[in-house]
Formats: sequence, C-alpha cells, structure tokens
Amino acid sequence: MSEALFEFSWRHPEAKGPALPWRQSDVPLYPTFLGRAPSMEDGRAANTSLSSEKPMSLTPIQARDEFPILKHKTYLNSCSLGALSLRGEAYLDEFRERWHSMGASAWYEHWMGRMAMLRGRMAAFMGGAEGTVALVPSTSAALATVAESVPEEATRQRTRVVCSELDFPTLAYQWAAKPGVELVVLPSPDGVGMDPAQFEEAVDERTLFLATSHVFFTTGFIQDIGRLAEIARSAGAYSVFDGYHGAGQIPLDLSDAGVDFYTAGPLKWLCGGPGLAYLYVRPELIGSLHPRIPGWFGASNAFDFEIRRMEPHDDARRFEMGTPALPTVHTALGGQEIIEEVGIERIEVQNRALTEQLVNGCRERGFTLTTAEDPAQRSAIVMVQHPNPPGGVKHLAEAGFIVDHRPGHIRVSPHFYNTEEEVHLFLDTLAGFPT
Ligand SMILES: Cc1ncc(COP(=O)(O)O)c(C=O)c1O
Repeated sequence: MSEALFEFSWRHPEAKGPALPWRQSDVPLYPTFLGRAPSMEDGRAANTSLSSEKPMSLTPIQARDEFPILKHKTYLNSCSLGALSLRGEAYLDEFRERWHSMGASAWYEHWMGRMAMLRGRMAAFMGGAEGTVALVPSTSAALATVAESVPEEATRQRTRVVCSELDFPTLAYQWAAKPGVELVVLPSPDGVGMDPAQFEEAVDERTLFLATSHVFFTTGFIQDIGRLAEIARSAGAYSVFDGYHGAGQIPLDLSDAGVDFYTAGPLKWLCGGPGLAYLYVRPELIGSLHPRIPGWFGASNAFDFEIRRMEPHDDARRFEMGTPALPTVHTALGGQEIIEEVGIERIEVQNRALTEQLVNGCRERGFTLTTAEDPAQRSAIVMVQHPNPPGGVKHLAEAGFIVDHRPGHIRVSPHFYNTEEEVHLFLDTLAGFPT
C-alpha cells in the first residue's frame, strides 16, 4: 500500500475557513509509537507502547489549551460529558477527510487500524494484556453481551445476581428483564456508599454475577474493586463492574485486581464523546465465553461471508457486534492521548485536590453534601444538597458555570483541566444564590 495514500493533505474544496495549523503538521498522522500507517494488527503493537514509552508531556494547566470550552465557560460537568479537545477534533477531521478522499477503502486502509489502536490503548490504560478490550456501542450493550456470554449451564445452576441500589439503572435492567433471575439490590446504609461486607453476605453459591459500579454515579463513592472481585471469585461467581466513572479518574490495573469484566466509555472522564463503550474481559476467561448476542465484528472469519459458521475471535473482539461509531473512535483517540499525556496519576491527584477544595468550601458556606466521610473514597462527583437544584443550576449557568442537577442536589464534577481559581469562583457564586 502506498504511503502517499496516508498523507493528510486533502481538503474539500468547499471547506469553510482556513485549515487550522495543527491539522496539517502538529498532529502526527500516525501515533508516534507506530510511525507508520496502522494496520488490522496494531491493537497488539499499540498495547505495550503508550503508558510505558510515552513520556508525560502535558501538565494539567497546559492541557487547558486543548479544550476550547474552558475559554468561555467554567466547565464543571465532566461527570456528564467530558470536554471536547482540539486533538479529538483533529482526529475527527482526519476521519472526515479520509472519507472524502478514499471512500470505502478508508475502512481497510485506515479505519480498521484506528479501531485496533483504540483497543490497544484502552487495554494498556486499563492494565490489561493485549486483546482484552472490545469496542461496543454502549455500557448497556456491554452488560447485555456479558450476561449472555457465560455458559448456559452456569445460568441454570446460578440464578442470583447481586448489585446495589446506588448503581446505574442500566446495570440492574440487564438482569431484571430476564425471567428466572433473582436480582438482589442491596440497600446503601447511608445513601452514599456500600460496605463490602454486604456483598460478602449476599454473594453465595447461587450467585452468577456480582455486578456493581467502580464509582457510584449517584455520590462519587469509590468501591474497592479488588476486594469485590475476590468476594465474587471465592463464591464461584463472576465479577462485573460498571467503570464509567472509574476510567479517566482512577488509575486502573484490572489484571492485578482480578476483575472478570469491566465496562467504561469515552463519553465522560476520557473526553472522547458519545457513541462507544469499552468492555474489558479477563483473558483467562475469554475462551470459555460464547456471546449469544453476536455480530460479525466478533467473528475472525467475517470476511469469508460464511453464513453457516461463525468463528469467534480468540480475544475480546468476540464480544463486538456490528459497525462501530467511527467518528467516536476518532474523538476518543484524541481524548485518550491527552489523558495519557497528562498522566492518570497526575489526574487523580488534581481531581482529589479540587474535590477536597469543593467539599471543604461547600461546608464552610453552610451546604450539606452527600459524600463519603473518608476522602480516600471520594471522587470528583460532588453532590451538594440544595432546596432548588434547577434554580441553582440556572443561576450558575447565567454566571458561566456549567454544572448539573439530580434530585435534591446540584452536582459538580471538576476534572484535571479545572483550576483552584475556578472552584473558588464557583463556590462564591453558589453561595450567592438565595436558598
Ligand atoms: C454509571 C454509568 N453507567 C453507564 C452510563 C451510560 O450507559 P450507556 O453507555 O448504556 O448509555 C452512564 C451515564 O451515562 C453512567 O453514569
């Protein structure tokens, strides 16, 4: 294949406005660790490269320049939607221009490589071995395929699934909708978090899945996934975690934690946009799992177009379904690059500092929070109790602060690109709204 095909110079004649400089030169056409056009196999090549070989090159403050929204808003809503970066936009432009210039051949010569690159990056980022991450349409789809992949015999022998009342509804729905499944929804003792002992008590020889969140979207409470995975394993059950609010906030080592399944997505803390999710599967399990919600992207013989025989991939790709949202594959790569250049450890430190500033600042101003008492169990989802959440959010929006509300609360979620100064101004503006 000619290298010239990959020169990123084509521009639609009717494109409006000047080409931004970073489109042409600053953004490497290929990931720097490849230095060449990606191929179908690059998921494997990419897997080992990023976190170890690529130096951290952006401080959180420098990274702010990547996010245009920060120039005109105080954006404190990453728990809902991470900000779009110039890097993500550059990848998206690249996608669009390939489409214009190459048409369908972009699939084989370029986009398959981008998908492989994203799988590889995510596996490394989550602390998984190569081939442990599948690209799926949503968390709901990821959980549905997990539920329908374990041996049928196991589903007959074990009919109980244990989750908590603080989990995201889509997690419980997967099993609530299945006849014959006993869904146990554990109550939270304080409305903020869970005690692992509650899972220990409920997960037994009847249990098929311990299914819960890494970080509760409701309160930001961080669960100990290693401990919960161990509880599931000791009872002979599978562990599955909704990690939407874990990935991008907390360093992950899923292999070390002994987690069976973990779902995440680029939408929020990974700054990659909607339309895609990631499913990590423990490699030792993959061979024993046969998805009963299959799709041709899960088949290694897809391009034989053999209707009578599906050969599942021997890695996590067997969980993939149909054509993925390619624009999001591209924006997700841009967001992911920035997250990794800042470094997840540094992001965790920054987010913790901003969270503590928010918690202390709210309390000093007389607000009550629905948050963990132990700072180690807090993440950057801060729930401020409020008598008029929609009114408060509107007042804040008029002053340029983007936050959200949930029943009885104003929800504030800073990320690494926010500053102490922004949090300080937010606190004063919040306090200025009559309650
Ligand atoms: C904890 C959690 N899980 C899952 C989702 C989304 O699920 P899906 O990808 O199926 O839309 C969200 C929010 O959008 C969430 O907060």
